[in-house]
Amino acid sequence: MKIAVIGLGFVGLSLTSVLAAKDYTVIGIDKDKKKCNEIRNGRVQIYEPDLEKTLNVGLRKSLEISDDFSLIINSDMIFVTVGTPQKTNGEIDLSMVKNAVRSVGKIIRKTKKNPIIFIKSTVIPGTTEKVIVPILETESGKKANKEFGVISNPEFLQESNAIRDTKYPHAIILGGKDTSYMKKAKRFFSKMHSGISIIVTRYQTAEMIKYANNSFLATKISFINQLSNICQKIPNADVDDVASAIGLDPRIGKLFLNAGPGYGGSCLPKDMSALINFGGNVGANTTFLKAVKKTNDDQINNIISLMRKKLGKLSGKKITILGTAFKPNTDDIRDSKSIELIKKLLKNKVKISVYDPKALENTRKIFGNKIIYSKSLTSSLVKSYGVVIMIQWKQFESINNKSLQCMKNKLIIDSRRMLAKKELNGEYYAIGIGKN
Ligand code: UDX
Repeated sequence: MKIAVIGLGFVGLSLTSVLAAKDYTVIGIDKDKKKCNEIRNGRVQIYEPDLEKTLNVGLRKSLEISDDFSLIINSDMIFVTVGTPQKTNGEIDLSMVKNAVRSVGKIIRKTKKNPIIFIKSTVIPGTTEKVIVPILETESGKKANKEFGVISNPEFLQESNAIRDTKYPHAIILGGKDTSYMKKAKRFFSKMHSGISIIVTRYQTAEMIKYANNSFLATKISFINQLSNICQKIPNADVDDVASAIGLDPRIGKLFLNAGPGYGGSCLPKDMSALINFGGNVGANTTFLKAVKKTNDDQINNIISLMRKKLGKLSGKKITILGTAFKPNTDDIRDSKSIELIKKLLKNKVKISVYDPKALENTRKIFGNKIIYSKSLTSSLVKSYGVVIMIQWKQFESINNKSLQCMKNKLIIDSRRMLAKKELNGEYYAIGIGKN
């Protein structure tokens, strides 16, 4: 069986590597020549635990990487995993998906095979049937679900867990028509992920499941963040104890209740905006989703007002931001709350010093010489008026009174409550813990 994967970002490259490591014959395609060269040489330009290792296992087997689309010609399965970035109005930009399926359609025209095309890219409900299938049929001159299969197969992997999630997903969603292609897909996935539930449904429902999943995760985070803000006003109340306790109720569940500066990343904010936009377009009420988004958008202001309250005028003062990635164990800064915080503080003429174990290079691409990039946690604190912990990098747990010594003023704002149990000589504020 030959498998092609189109688009070698987090999702595509993880899938390519895992499939190849499992002995499938895989070709990974990306239009970026330079990226293909790096990957072919076993190097991954993103920090993702185990990805490079798995890729190299695949490369030692029969994995091929190329920018040449024509090489997918004899594939039995083609996974489309290109991005669907956000436009300014919240809608998703489908241009990469359209280009990819146009190229796939042209190849299907020439092949004698009857491949299955899996759409993994996140697209709003209706896209596969109304946009993707017509493009594939026009370009190939063949009939979808007769001469080739088209199945919506949304992806749920989390960055920093990409390989594990690709190997052990919580469910497999297959959206499409009840055809022999669907039966083949079910057989493939039950062999690949034995014991994992496979949900077979229509295109639109499969597409909606992806948005439902991400908007529910966003809801949990905004919920706990709002409770965190309330806890902060109650002396001795601790949002983490609240979260652990309610998390024991199986109807609630313990995951995604870690309060903080709000959710970021390349998926949750984008998918929330797209769902709100889509809901509005189809005439549905999205009050609740909008409130989840607004709660998230407001969360960073909590940190800024606390800073203002404690430091007065912020202009000209040096503030240290710890963690610029959108979460720990990644170097990805897309839609990172820290980046948003830095932008807001720069507008207030604050001097910013940042430290992140992996994301400094990416941060530099945004801010250039407008901020200071520190090589170590301790050096980032020198002469600062305040420090903000934004994400839970393990290294930040080591902060102690010695590391804080070099600060000009010891204001510590801990948005993840990592240092809450320590006796620190300074003004320590944990977001979500009420002060006496
Ligand atoms: C998310 C979904 O989890 C995944 O299923 C989907 O396929 C893509 O989008 P990812 O973007 O990798 O994955 O990030 P995730 O781990 O979900 O975190 C998103 C944001 O929420 C981060 O900014 C993180 O710091 C924040 N978060 C997460 C919290 O603030 N608290 C939590 O309890 C969990």
